[in-house]
Amino acid sequence: MPSDDLNTLRNDALPKIGAAPDTEALEDIRIALLGKSGAVTQAMKALGGLEPEARKARGAELNVLKTALTEALAARRATLESAGLTARLAAQRIDISAPPRPEPPGAIHPISRTLDEIAAIFGAQGFAVKEGPDIEDDWTAFGALNIPVHHPARAMMDTFYLNAAFGNRRALLRPHTSSVQTRTMVEWARLRATMSETPPIRIIVPGRTYRSDHDATHSPMFHQCEGLVIAKDITLGHLKGCLIDFLRAYFDAPALPVRFRASYFPFTEPSMEVDIGWNRKTGEIGKGGDWLEILGSGMVHANVLANCGIDPREFQGFAFGMGIERITMLKYGIADLRLFYESDVRWLRHYGFSALAPAMLHEGFER
Ligand code: PHE
Repeated sequence: MPSDDLNTLRNDALPKIGAAPDTEALEDIRIALLGKSGAVTQAMKALGGLEPEARKARGAELNVLKTALTEALAARRATLESAGLTARLAAQRIDISAPPRPEPPGAIHPISRTLDEIAAIFGAQGFAVKEGPDIEDDWTAFGALNIPVHHPARAMMDTFYLNAAFGNRRALLRPHTSSVQTRTMVEWARLRATMSETPPIRIIVPGRTYRSDHDATHSPMFHQCEGLVIAKDITLGHLKGCLIDFLRAYFDAPALPVRFRASYFPFTEPSMEVDIGWNRKTGEIGKGGDWLEILGSGMVHANVLANCGIDPREFQGFAFGMGIERITMLKYGIADLRLFYESDVRWLRHYGFSALAPAMLHEGFER
């Protein structure tokens, strides 16, 4: 049987704990019982003055009492806290009539918009969009494309090489999207070996490209769009018609003058730069009697076809490649290419496009 004084203490404390109106009152009770000079603590301290037998008995009683009080305090605390939360939730209602903070709509970046427009125009001509990795090997990016080891495009100051390799091929950041030509042709040649009929290749390849250049019109990371058509009967006439149609649709100028000028690329033969008519002084496109270089093109070199496993006596085709930043700058009068990547929200708001008005060929492309 517990001693009378401890019984009294317990009978006195438990109802008080159960009735504590809030957590502060409960804390006061806890301190009065179990605090440094609380009743139970004092009784514990007094144990030292007892005979061993009596000390043992009373110590055990005190421990039982202390546990009972501690549990009662914790239980009351939990009850008070959950009641407090319920009361707060009831009192603080969400006012759903408050007007929401305005959320300004984002805008489509001009580079993305140009890629969408290119995909819409070539899509209408039956091209599919194809993508490839930014990290390439030097055979896919150079060797297969008839770009020999001594070619300046391969030099350190032009291309970013990685401290890595794919087998015995060096890893690099692709300096043009033409690497996806290689991938597509190699894949196609493999497929042809297993099928009696293979559709022609007709792809565009939009994507990021890398060269170690940096000024107002060159960025170490930029975008290109490649094009590739391979079939049995593709001629230079197809190349010209396809690109003239593209340029007139893209620049929204049905009578845009387009000039094909003999040039050189290792992976095409013959090769041509494609120029459009413009006014050098005013920057106006389509009029003015000056010529502006827009893209590179040509008939895929027989060596390139053969490197990729395609018989050049059976198939031929054309390829082209253009810089996305360049044609975007021309169309929208953007003077410095670095602005594309500065993420200045004011600039993006001004030059960006509504996501609700996607690029669709039949609607034309407003300038
Ligand atoms: N790869 C060339 C460049 O980066 C562009 C090009 C592609 C030219 C395909 C001809 C044919 O400049």
